[in-house]
Amino acid sequence: MKIIKVKDSDELAEKAMKIVVNMMLKIEKPVIGLATGSTPEKLYANLVERVQKGDISFKHTTTFNLDEYVGLSPDDPTSYHYYMEKHLFSGIDIKKGNAHVLNGLAEDLEEECERFEQLIEDAGKLHMQILGLGLNGHIGFNEPGTPFDSRTHLVDLDAMTIKANSRFFNSIDEVPKKALTMGIGTIMDAERILFLVQGEKKADILRKVVYGEVTEEVPASILQHHPNVTLITDIDI
Ligand code: F6R
Repeated sequence: MKIIKVKDSDELAEKAMKIVVNMMLKIEKPVIGLATGSTPEKLYANLVERVQKGDISFKHTTTFNLDEYVGLSPDDPTSYHYYMEKHLFSGIDIKKGNAHVLNGLAEDLEEECERFEQLIEDAGKLHMQILGLGLNGHIGFNEPGTPFDSRTHLVDLDAMTIKANSRFFNSIDEVPKKALTMGIGTIMDAERILFLVQGEKKADILRKVVYGEVTEEVPASILQHHPNVTLITDIDI
């Protein structure tokens, strides 16, 4: 794992943006896996700026989001559809049909997961997956105990995740209890992983992820086995 230590969230977003831009300039039809949450917000703002300056274009880019809550409509401000529209898609020139976010309102959620996996397969492969880290070590919504070979699936959110994400809702009771997420196997198939972790409160879990035992109890620890991970963090580890 390559580790880039930065001083703050601005430097993290700047360095991450440059890595994404370089990849996009090298690959004719980039396929990118995207994350939501607080961590990538500034990265997305930087990418929007580069598109608006004309430095890059998403016209030939396909994206796949890691996860979505079950039961929220795309126009619900707490859904990940809404987040992506607000922070990235509305500011870039991506073709509507090329920005894939799991449908948490699908009648048949298992079928939705299979459809999503198939779309990724049809796209070839993810050239880059952007990842954040949950306080419990999750990546996507793969909570502790998720098999390392899992594919896109329906999950029950962990109590720690529900509590951590309640900051985006009016009350903790409004946080959905279920979500759809790319599996750990799906994430590990990405050619390159850009792993962004910020904030002292993640120091202990990040040390376990990077230096601890590789165990399904710490989902992100599997990244130790991925051949091309770049971690950008403001944490001294
Ligand atoms: C979001 C996702 C999650 C977050 C993680 C960290 O799509 O998959 O794994 O990356 O929960 O979230 P923040 O950045 O809000 O601390």
